[in-house]
Amino acid sequence: MAVLVTGGAGYIGSHTAVVLHEAGRDVVVLDDLSNSSVAAVEALRALTRPDLPFIRADAADVDAVGRAIVDHGVDEVVHFAAFKSVSGSIADPDGYHRNNVGSTVGVVEAMRRNGVSRIVFSSSCTVYGEPTSLPVTEDSPISASNPYGATKVACEELLAAEADAGGLDVLLLRYFNPVGAHSSGDLGEDPRGTPDNLVPYLMQVAVGRRESLSVFGDDYDTPDGSAIRDYIHVVDLAEGHLAALDVLAGSDDEDVRDPSVGSTGCRAVNLGTGAGHSVLEVLAAAGRVIGRPVPHEVVGRRDGDIERIWADPSLAADLLGWRATRGLDEMLADHWRWQQRHPDGYGTG
Ligand code: UFG
Repeated sequence: MAVLVTGGAGYIGSHTAVVLHEAGRDVVVLDDLSNSSVAAVEALRALTRPDLPFIRADAADVDAVGRAIVDHGVDEVVHFAAFKSVSGSIADPDGYHRNNVGSTVGVVEAMRRNGVSRIVFSSSCTVYGEPTSLPVTEDSPISASNPYGATKVACEELLAAEADAGGLDVLLLRYFNPVGAHSSGDLGEDPRGTPDNLVPYLMQVAVGRRESLSVFGDDYDTPDGSAIRDYIHVVDLAEGHLAALDVLAGSDDEDVRDPSVGSTGCRAVNLGTGAGHSVLEVLAAAGRVIGRPVPHEVVGRRDGDIERIWADPSLAADLLGWRATRGLDEMLADHWRWQQRHPDGYGTG
């Protein structure tokens, strides 16, 4: 039996594939490489096994996903394959819906045709929009504030409806802000073009690829005026997927079934640390880890940014037996190791 990881050549997907492999799962990666590369697959194989099955296909291609399921005896799925740029989604809302919702429809259809019921879905704290109270729990109001977020909400709703209809056992994992890299320094985040996100941009400045980080706003209502997020190590996040799969697999067994997840269940779970850090705190921590200050300048706020968000991660502890164990300095040190060893990413971006 095997686990299919769609989007397994991407940032979170590849780290999850390593963790699942190390836990003894047979991992099958499916990725169309639209936002990743053959070099990422090779890096993944070097850390797992040289013949790790990789299928180059779009997750919206029901036949290709179905063939992967049949050929490899897949009995559980982690579905990452999606576009993830907020600004990209504002420029191309229909493309984002076609890709993100379309791939989820394709995966669900292929699972149903082939009798696979367990799926862990890659969702995001973006579904909460600007929170009305903190920390955010899974019951906090849902409000997508951009088309990318709207695609995550739509996929969550689709999967919940499929579970209600009796076909799927679903865990929706709502990630906060992933940072870091595999401790080897040979698997990491490799954004194409100019990075949108704070830490990839900051690291490219530190390694000399860019001149200066723009800090988007120091006039928020926060202690130092910069915006606050819940940064989480990508390997902690990957381990959350393993815990989620174990809970879904256990739910086939009446004796260990959690009454809230199981045949035809769907639950959303926050994966965060529970701690918020401001942009200026991240910048200061990065300067310490790197050993010198990172050039930066404060500019105006970025459109669409929220002021602050961090998770209540207690449901993940209760339901999955999982909690984040790696702190901000470790995330930044691991990210920096990756950036130093691979200043140009995988070299194909
Ligand atoms: N920031 C900067 N300078 C930069 C980049 C970011 O100051 O060059 C700031 C942002 O303004 C924000 C913080 O750093 O305050 C974090 O920004 P990121 O872009 O790293 O992350 P976001 O919180 O904006 O984005 C995350 C996920 C998205 C998700 C979004 C929901 O990366 O996938 O949350 O708001 F959609």
